[in-house]
Amino acid sequence: MPTVLDDISAEILDLKQKIGATILAHYYQEGEIQALADITGDSLKLAREATKVDTPVIVFCGVLFMAETAKMLNPAKTVLLPDTSAGCSLVDSCPPDKLARYQEMLRENGRKFQTVTYINSSAKVKALSDWIVTSGNAEDVVRNKVPADHEILFVPDQHLGRYLQEVTGRQMILWNGSCMVHEIFSVHDLVKLKRKYPDSQTIAHPECPKNILEHADYIGGTEAMIKHVGAIGTPTTFLVATEPNMMWQLESRFKQHKYIGVPGITCACNACPHMAKNTLEKIRDCMKHGKPEIIWQPEFDKAKEVLARSLLNPPVAPAVSHPHGD
Ligand code: 13P
Ligand code: SF4
Repeated sequence: MPTVLDDISAEILDLKQKIGATILAHYYQEGEIQALADITGDSLKLAREATKVDTPVIVFCGVLFMAETAKMLNPAKTVLLPDTSAGCSLVDSCPPDKLARYQEMLRENGRKFQTVTYINSSAKVKALSDWIVTSGNAEDVVRNKVPADHEILFVPDQHLGRYLQEVTGRQMILWNGSCMVHEIFSVHDLVKLKRKYPDSQTIAHPECPKNILEHADYIGGTEAMIKHVGAIGTPTTFLVATEPNMMWQLESRFKQHKYIGVPGITCACNACPHMAKNTLEKIRDCMKHGKPEIIWQPEFDKAKEVLARSLLNPPVAPAVSHPHGD
């Protein structure tokens, strides 16, 4: 028997034709949203795919900084975001005026540096940056784009920055931000799971702190993790230290494996509350009413240039994707 959700999905597919929309969804969206998207991906893939959309409307199922990125990289499109209050703790951790003051202080002290900014940041912060990175191209940018005679100010994710220091050997000045989801995986529960499943593999996102990464067999951004799991044919149990909705992709694509989410210290599922703001109902309503829409802001002009030169040249080196200890 069709359910209410089936009815809403059917309405969305109908509206898609009517308004000429392409639905992009991040791997951290609920499975029911990923299932009806035209394109699913991590931050890097979605940013690049947004430039290729040929319908007049992009419905972006993700958080605000991702929808803004899509708008900046394809300004002619109407970009709809089902809930504009879908933020990100990393964005909140780096107010642009605070960053500008810090950069000024470094300059006054004669420091020669470039600012490398994680895409999980506001457009104003992007406009203050030399490079924008995602977990998928960060290593390439740090290794190959930032001149060797410059220091690196890495903002806002201290954990990704620390991990990049370790794999590239480049020292960085780290901002004090973190992802509220990846920061609170329980090491205690992870160790218990590893004991219970001694043949399992632990895969972890580099937004996790060192105490989780040191237990990981594989560290990589979302897309890199999917590739890693897909390359393993032997049925394996994976302990997954990233946002749990990613397991929907893994379960749908690679059914030979078993996936167990690593619990958080406060909440067993450790889902991102910002990503969870998008629902099928809100997707339908934004398509029906043509809003909320991402409106061009003055800072987009500069941020767009930094984004385009950082993300739209395919990296020469592979994405951040190292078995731990490499
Ligand atoms: P990626 O999409 O680069 O894996 O980043 C994960 C994330 O936390 C997005 O908000
Ligand atoms: Fe931000 Fe973390 Fe949520 Fe990604 S998972 S949107 S980094 S709070």
